Amino acid sequence: MPVRQTAAACRSRETRTRFEDPAQMPEYSTGTTRETYVYGRAPRNVYWEVTVACDLACRHCRAEAVAERDPDELSTEQGRSLIDDVKTMGSLLVITGGDPMKRPDLFELMAYARSVGQPVAITPSTTPTLTREAVRKFAELGVVTMGVSLDGPSAAVHDAFRGVEGTYAVSQRALAWAREAEIPVQVNTTVCRQTLPHVRELMELLRGQAPPVIRWSLFILIPTGRGSMLESLTASELEELFSWVLAMSHDAPFHMSTVEAPHYRRYWIQSKLRTGMPWTAVREASKRMGFGMRDGNGVIFVARNGDVFPAGFLPYPLLGNVKRDQLSVLYRTSPALLGLRDMDLLTGKCGRCEFRWLCGGSRARAYATSGNVLGPEPMCVYQPGEAVQEPLL
Ligand SMILES: C[S@@+](CC[C@H](N)C(=O)[O-])C[C@H]1O[C@@H](n2cnc3c(N)ncnc32)[C@H](O)[C@@H]1O
Ligand code: SF4
Repeated sequence: MPVRQTAAACRSRETRTRFEDPAQMPEYSTGTTRETYVYGRAPRNVYWEVTVACDLACRHCRAEAVAERDPDELSTEQGRSLIDDVKTMGSLLVITGGDPMKRPDLFELMAYARSVGQPVAITPSTTPTLTREAVRKFAELGVVTMGVSLDGPSAAVHDAFRGVEGTYAVSQRALAWAREAEIPVQVNTTVCRQTLPHVRELMELLRGQAPPVIRWSLFILIPTGRGSMLESLTASELEELFSWVLAMSHDAPFHMSTVEAPHYRRYWIQSKLRTGMPWTAVREASKRMGFGMRDGNGVIFVARNGDVFPAGFLPYPLLGNVKRDQLSVLYRTSPALLGLRDMDLLTGKCGRCEFRWLCGGSRARAYATSGNVLGPEPMCVYQPGEAVQEPLL
């Protein structure tokens, strides 16, 4: 593969002969710098876990959600200040949980966000708290998208995974209500050993549900929170899934994406180069598609009590708390975050890899599996060279 060569090696006559087609050779470093892949000024998405309360107790839940609200949750007033701050950054606010519907002031907060022109997405839990009226209210309040979790194509699979009978039925009703209310839906599916066999059938089910489904996000299990009790895929199984996602995405009636698997970008780039797409075009597309975005870089997470972390799946390091710190300041200046955005600090194979600035591996998975937030992504099959490779930029 051409992209496995270092820039220096690529320039050498000897290595050039190893390219099947010299026209495909990447033109490294022409006007693109590491900063292109750094979201230093503002995150694209701010995730706010408004509550940890939820009537489900899913076996994979990263939030370890429980039935009761945490008395330490942000107050309505603190929530308003957070919304004001997010507005100054121009980010999308994703209201998540637990189950956001468990907050009695949810609609009040959403109405406030609307009044200040702050775009909001929401990921309610699929329990009886999610009613037709609630979905209508989301529409009225102008939500950008509603997230609906669906981990399998049938009640048998989905309810077994979620541990509560009837959740599949609620998710199906939620999709119907979203269609009625004309709210775009992002379907979220957790992919692990238990759900992998059902992903293809789920695709067929979702095909018939677009609209309202506009995006299907495959959340590759992070063994954090209760998720540490479940079994992940192997790196080669994930690589096969990448190949299937790429093939399916060509005629899917919605956008398909992976969450916590930034090495899908490496797979995507390798595939495009293999088809003869010139590196300059691949690079332009990569920039457009936000390659480089990952936990703490383009994404930031505010926990139920105001604690700020790089992402919901990465509860380390603790960056501050919005009860006393401004999120926008933490995002721009926290030394720990600046370190997390420097892909030249990665260790192991990710640190040597030429894809590190576009991919960088899941920092959440590296942390969850080894305790080293800068360590190698354990679910990537790619083996870079033994020496540190010149990064693809
Ligand atoms: C954080 S949840 C929030 C919405 C709501 N509580 C729910 O579960 O539908 C958003 C998505 O993350 C997924 N998720 C939760 N824990 C996870 C984990 N440990 N690894 C991967 N995905 C996970 C959920 O299944 C859900 O689809
Ligand atoms: S080795 Fe790391 S940086 Fe390279 S493609 Fe795999 S996960 Fe990404």
